[in-house]
Amino acid sequence: MKLGVCYYPEHWPETWWQDDARAMVAMGLSWVRIGEFAWSRMEPEPGHFNWAWLDRAIDTLGDAGLQIVMGTPTATPPKWLVDQHPDMIAIDENGRPRLFGSRRHYCFSSESYRAECLRIVTALAERYGQHPAIGAWQTDNEFGCHNTTISYSEAAATRFRQWLARRYNDVDSLNRAWGSVFWSMEYRSFDEIDPPHLTVTEVNPSHRLDYNRFASNEVVSFNKLQVDVLRRLSPGRDITHNFMGFYTEFDHFDVGRDLDVATWDSYPLGFLEQFWFSPEEKQRYLRQGHPDVAGFHHDLYRGCGQGRWWVMEQQPGPVNWARYNPAPLPGMVRAWTWEAFAHGAEVVSYFRWRQAPFAQEQMHAGLNLPDRSLDIGGQEARQVADEIEILGPIATTEQAKVALIFSYEADWMSLIQPQGRSFRWLHMAFETYSALRGMGLDVDMVPPGADLTAYKLVIAPAQIHVSNELVEAISKSEAVLLLGPRSGSKTKDFQIPDTLPPGPVQQLLPIKVTRVESLRPGTLSDVIYKSRDLKGHMWREDIRSQLIPHATYKNGEGAWYQQGRVNYLGFWPDREALAHILCELAEDAGLEVQSLPEDVRISRRGGFVFAINYAADTRSAPAPEDADFLVGGHEMLPAGVSIWRDVTA
Ligand code: GAL
Repeated sequence: MKLGVCYYPEHWPETWWQDDARAMVAMGLSWVRIGEFAWSRMEPEPGHFNWAWLDRAIDTLGDAGLQIVMGTPTATPPKWLVDQHPDMIAIDENGRPRLFGSRRHYCFSSESYRAECLRIVTALAERYGQHPAIGAWQTDNEFGCHNTTISYSEAAATRFRQWLARRYNDVDSLNRAWGSVFWSMEYRSFDEIDPPHLTVTEVNPSHRLDYNRFASNEVVSFNKLQVDVLRRLSPGRDITHNFMGFYTEFDHFDVGRDLDVATWDSYPLGFLEQFWFSPEEKQRYLRQGHPDVAGFHHDLYRGCGQGRWWVMEQQPGPVNWARYNPAPLPGMVRAWTWEAFAHGAEVVSYFRWRQAPFAQEQMHAGLNLPDRSLDIGGQEARQVADEIEILGPIATTEQAKVALIFSYEADWMSLIQPQGRSFRWLHMAFETYSALRGMGLDVDMVPPGADLTAYKLVIAPAQIHVSNELVEAISKSEAVLLLGPRSGSKTKDFQIPDTLPPGPVQQLLPIKVTRVESLRPGTLSDVIYKSRDLKGHMWREDIRSQLIPHATYKNGEGAWYQQGRVNYLGFWPDREALAHILCELAEDAGLEVQSLPEDVRISRRGGFVFAINYAADTRSAPAPEDADFLVGGHEMLPAGVSIWRDVTA
């Protein structure tokens, strides 16, 4: 458990650097990330590098005892470079260029930009790859931030056609896979195919899905270009990338496979404000963040990093970019830091050392104020540094007993053809996660097709395409399995399977979905389960089967089918019903379910139980009477953290 911070020496007078470095160490920080936006200072003129200032910055930080994460600066190409390569600019879905003047003004598919990235990354790694203070590398910064994964440029169109030709070999196969005969959308050659935008009405969903896959692969190969250079020139250093929250436009498991460590940027208050939470939830968790948002991503990125992950940017105070930017409760920055360690983070690094008094993010807090005095976030970071010492080193990799199948493709598919406005895979995954965490369960996130043999309970909230690998992984595991509605409802090409939904799931459970309907908000369906009335909303399916249903709709028809340990829901339960169903299944799976105080979350790791209070008032820790507390105690104030020895471990 280490702490770190993001630092921009190029933003401050050089005379401050040494004091800053010493103050970081005094605060208990051991990592510092630099460099990721500094291209215009590294290469002020084409081909003319200025390393002198960076040499001194690295030496100053290193001499103070800090380890450095060096960022490659490819999220911020300088003006001269953009002017040299107009083809590198991304084009948005309305056909407009995304021009210079902020950041991320590039298209992943631009060959000329890829060549420029190779050039700067090589120069940087040649200069610093062997420097003893460089402990890790970060490629670029937040791939996809500001909606930049998908571009409709000429460069993207060209590479998309090549990608399609490799995928389908001949254009007739593509026409069949896409059902292009519908509305005379047939193509005679790959060259005729454009990126899917600016059409009169919705584009062909198969075309759209392939574009998502293509765009995702572009991010993977763009990252890989840099990773290959760094591995060659800076062996022995971890390579990472900092992912974002609630962002699914590329498959992070695929990018993660090329990294040593996954990292992500955690802004709990910004996420609460910017995403789909209800006005009541936004108010209730105003200064704490939703109790499951950080955990959801910690668990996801632990999966993407194959067990190794960090928080690269932790919110230190109010941010600048949400619609409203409240301040965290006193103690909340500390609590978020502990939440990350409780989920196995190796490092939590704050964004940023000092609030910048200029440019776009001048209203974004840091650990320090612009006048160089310590801010509240800095005080809390120091407190965590002291507390870490009490616990000593703890195991970061530990397998949970519950797995949630996290499917980027399922999310794309739900967005491409939602069929009902409120249907979105990501929300359903989050609700599922939140219900499980509310029962005190630890959760792993795994990609579809991953080995499931170590789990007791596996949930796929709405696995729209079920691959053969997934069916095989399910067959090999002994876990209780829950598949939500729409699972198996599409082939990989986005067509309805020949045997009707749930397609390949029929190998596990003999059912057929014959009609589906999406429901307006407020339209509920009653599901009778063991004489209890569960409410379904959003989605409802008619299912035919010889099996006796496990739960029925009011009219007696099957709503939930179970055979052996495999379960299929033909409806989407509301929160209460979801919690009830998951609780039953967890008990079937032999898991111990806890009833936690509202808005308290716990995690078990390394022989400790960690509890965080996300409520705005006091709660009591769900600890045994005689618990041996290392941090906190039975009474948990708002933003309170209690850590005790896990005697059940
Ligand atoms: C992140 C980004 C940082 C900074 C931060 C502000 O998305 O990686 O560079 O902009 O947000 O909260």
